[in-house]
Amino acid sequence: MNFAKKILCIGAGYVGGPTMAVIAAKCPQYKVTVVDVNPARIAAWNSDALPIYEPGLSDVVKQARGRNLFFSTEIDAAIDEAEIIFVSVNTPTKSFGEGAGKAADLQYWERTARNIVKVSKGDKIIIEKSTLPVRTAEAMSSILNANEKGIHFEVLSNPEFLAEGTAIADLNNPDRVLIGSQLTPEGLKARDQVVEIYANWVPRERIVTSNVWSAELSKLVANAFLAQRISSINSISELCEKTEADVTEVSRTIGMDSRIGSRFLVSSVGFGGSCFKKDILNLVYICRSYGLTEVADYWESVVEMNEHQKRRFVKNMLRAMFNTVAGKRIALFGFAFKADTGDTRESPAIDVAIQLVKEQAKVVISDPKALDNAKIDLASCIDNVEFVKDPYEAAKGAHAIAVMTEWKDYKGLDYGKIYAGMERPAFIFDGRNVLDHKALFEMGFNVFPLGQPALKHLKTV
Ligand SMILES: NC(=O)c1ccc[n+]([C@@H]2O[C@H](COP(=O)([O-])OP(=O)(O)OC[C@H]3O[C@@H](n4cnc5c(N)ncnc54)[C@H](O)[C@@H]3O)[C@@H](O)[C@H]2O)c1
Repeated sequence: MNFAKKILCIGAGYVGGPTMAVIAAKCPQYKVTVVDVNPARIAAWNSDALPIYEPGLSDVVKQARGRNLFFSTEIDAAIDEAEIIFVSVNTPTKSFGEGAGKAADLQYWERTARNIVKVSKGDKIIIEKSTLPVRTAEAMSSILNANEKGIHFEVLSNPEFLAEGTAIADLNNPDRVLIGSQLTPEGLKARDQVVEIYANWVPRERIVTSNVWSAELSKLVANAFLAQRISSINSISELCEKTEADVTEVSRTIGMDSRIGSRFLVSSVGFGGSCFKKDILNLVYICRSYGLTEVADYWESVVEMNEHQKRRFVKNMLRAMFNTVAGKRIALFGFAFKADTGDTRESPAIDVAIQLVKEQAKVVISDPKALDNAKIDLASCIDNVEFVKDPYEAAKGAHAIAVMTEWKDYKGLDYGKIYAGMERPAFIFDGRNVLDHKALFEMGFNVFPLGQPALKHLKTV
């Protein structure tokens, strides 16, 4: 079949897989290929057991796979064939050398760029889909265009704003699609080609174009602002616990102010996910490298507040449980960093579990989708942790339950039955404020929500 465009995505992860599946489903006239260096990941994309869990993803993949959507490990051949290449490889925080712990590690990106140069025989549009530091496109363009084959590569930035757990809905109906380009004739021509792809299903007024540096920076800033809202309401949750104010009432009230808005004001044990922390630290690093100390300190405090929230969650558990959890069975309900994903990268549950193990608790992890990842995250203390999918089994004989992820299932459990099988006094620490606290208290639980007065039968805690 003759396809109108041949599109390639390098990197078949949480972003590359779903984004390309949606482009292929929406645009049967294009051939969309997704490649990865990890053969197990590609094999999973070609099977019924997809490598990531995302509501609605498997239907979209089934619709297009084999028709105009292909997953492959043949990277060089796919590069050669494609006219437009999205690069969606990982850009973790650098763990070594200059900028360790803050700057973005661009080795995967640079390796990809060098391979594109090596293999290509004709001009191509290269699109940054990964989240990258501002002005990366300049470095990439230098690497790509330092070739002696006379080939021109036009580098664009098209950062991805999908959220895990709602990726397919976000891709089908995005708030906006952002395409940054150089404002040269070649840059604008390339930009129009990418606009044309999204215009197949995204209303034209939601396709925003900008210069390439604004596009790169907008992605970092969007994540920094989202995380800042969570840290802001989490800081207030601690004050609420001291003053008997209720953070859910405070956030409801302030969220009704149309200047503030209601989303991302839910207090929790902390934000997680692969992006917020790494992208803010990246922003902080960039600010410091320009000598903007106050700006860097300001954004760094968003991350520090998140670390504090996780630490104080465990401290509250300890204090409530008579200052020791040694030998006590504690069931963590949820391990994914949020509901509707199996992703556990930077999940607050990791830190909470490790802290509890250090306190010599017997930790039991329960999660409908994330147990395989949890086993990898807790490899360092795996002998002291149990993994039990069924929450009823996990809670059997436990002294306490701590809700780590807002899975819908946890609201509908039979807590009377759970209470009957637990040690006394029984505790619930609701790290997501999703349970019916009053009902639990009436069953006999001592209930510790976040940012709300605890409901206790015990006089001593
Ligand atoms: N996860 C999210 O919700 C999200 C949202 C928006 C943006 N982003 C950004 O998108 C980028 C990718 O994130 P992700 O969560 O999909 O990461 P991921 O780790 O799930 O996927 C990256 C994939 O790239 C592959 N890869 C690495 N080097 C390669 C190479 N040289 N050639 C071919 N494949 C290679 C890896 O094997 C991996 O499968 C990151 O920059 C991230 O910040 C992520």
